Amino acid sequence: MDLFPQTDREAAIEVLHASTAIYTAEPVVDQLLDMLDWPNDDRRLVDPSCGDGAFVGRALQRLLMAYPAIDDAHLVHVLEGWEIHHFAVSQARARVAELMVAHGRSHSAARELAQSMVRHGDFLLEGPREPVYHVIAANPPYLRFVNVPQPLRDEYERSLPDYAQADMLHSFLDRCVLSLHSDGEIAAVTADRWLLNASASKLRQKIGERLGIAHLERLDVMSAFYRPKLRRRGSLPRVHPVGVVLRHVSQCAAKLTSSPVYPGADLQEEHLGPTLGDVATVQLAPWLGTPGIFLVDELKGRALPREELVPAIDTDDISRGQLGVPKRYAIRTQRDRQPSAAVLQHLRANLHRMCPRGRRSPEWLPPEPFEKFDLSQPYLLVPRIAKTLTPVRVAAGILPVNHNLSIVAAGDKTLDELDAILTSERAMDWVAQRAPRLENGYFSLCTRLLRKLPV
Ligand SMILES: C[S@@+](CC[C@H](N)C(=O)[O-])C[C@H]1O[C@@H](n2cnc3c(N)ncnc32)[C@H](O)[C@@H]1O
Repeated sequence: MDLFPQTDREAAIEVLHASTAIYTAEPVVDQLLDMLDWPNDDRRLVDPSCGDGAFVGRALQRLLMAYPAIDDAHLVHVLEGWEIHHFAVSQARARVAELMVAHGRSHSAARELAQSMVRHGDFLLEGPREPVYHVIAANPPYLRFVNVPQPLRDEYERSLPDYAQADMLHSFLDRCVLSLHSDGEIAAVTADRWLLNASASKLRQKIGERLGIAHLERLDVMSAFYRPKLRRRGSLPRVHPVGVVLRHVSQCAAKLTSSPVYPGADLQEEHLGPTLGDVATVQLAPWLGTPGIFLVDELKGRALPREELVPAIDTDDISRGQLGVPKRYAIRTQRDRQPSAAVLQHLRANLHRMCPRGRRSPEWLPPEPFEKFDLSQPYLLVPRIAKTLTPVRVAAGILPVNHNLSIVAAGDKTLDELDAILTSERAMDWVAQRAPRLENGYFSLCTRLLRKLPV
């Protein structure tokens, strides 16, 4: 732990703590503890990232109620907290000591016990890697690895498996499973993304080899935390929390696999009938990079050969559910054919403005080439970020752009029938239960999800 000068590490811990200290409100803590087989004899409970001790404190109260005469050695054997940040450690210890004094211990005995029960350390690096706990009750930190300050990030990258390195939450879940007995259980408040995101599929698969989902529910972000992380003064954390209980796979009807899990949806429901993907082609509209290069306005479009342009639409062309007249054109080029001199000249004069991730070779290819995008049929455009499913009818020959979704009839259903399916309450409920949530009631819609929509 002393590989780096203390000051660097301590500074990193300050930043880490400031970014991850979102504490859990008591009712949520109690609700999760209610679902666990604890306290129970020698079974050991840990909160691996205990903050100011919300879980440890409520667990201690239950322990003292169940075993009023419990001795100190047994107390610290069956209940433990870990915390990396010195001030949070002192807060958690103070909470424990206060409860012990109220239970009749002397101040010094209570302080000593609190010192042993709440460990000041880094659970990811120093926590046990063998099965020692029966119960893990936690609200683990979540922070994308790119935002984890150095030198902590280097240390974690060296010590953790690749599949657990996208976010600290993934690292914690992985380490928790490692330290859990075969008959153990994990109850956690987490952000929902590890259940949904493709980047966590290997993690889900790994955890699913041992544990299944015994309980999963969405929590209200307004009331789940009692000291929410403030991004701006007064704003709520940008997370969609869930309460989840994981137990041995043999005890759970809902398995955890690499596939996404949708909180709020029936975990065991398996739709066997046709889906949108069976009756329609659901495509992602291309992203054409920095505006003004492959996506040009009408004025610029007039200066370029018509046959190399396609009218293009984005969500700002939609007003009250109706598509207006396209105001932009996309330059349609082909990989193996050099465009006209006019188009080439325009591109060469503007490509220096293209953002780095939009650069392609040959130079006349847009960031996401759309030469094969089928524009021969009318389709439904579905905005990829929306509060509801709001398909808009678009005529053939018009290109959707910027990762919106296009739905072309490809089976025995007409476009009108697809429109009716998409705008039904049932479809919206289905999507609302599964689509990743954004802020202010918006959802992020993707082709993979829409293809699975039951029709
Ligand atoms: C989301 S808070 C949860 C605190 C508490 N469990 C609760 O629910 O109120 C996460 C806590 O994890 C701590 N933490 C972050 N990284 C840690 C690590 N590697 N080891 C131990 N604690 C860590 C942070 O300092 C923060 O206090």
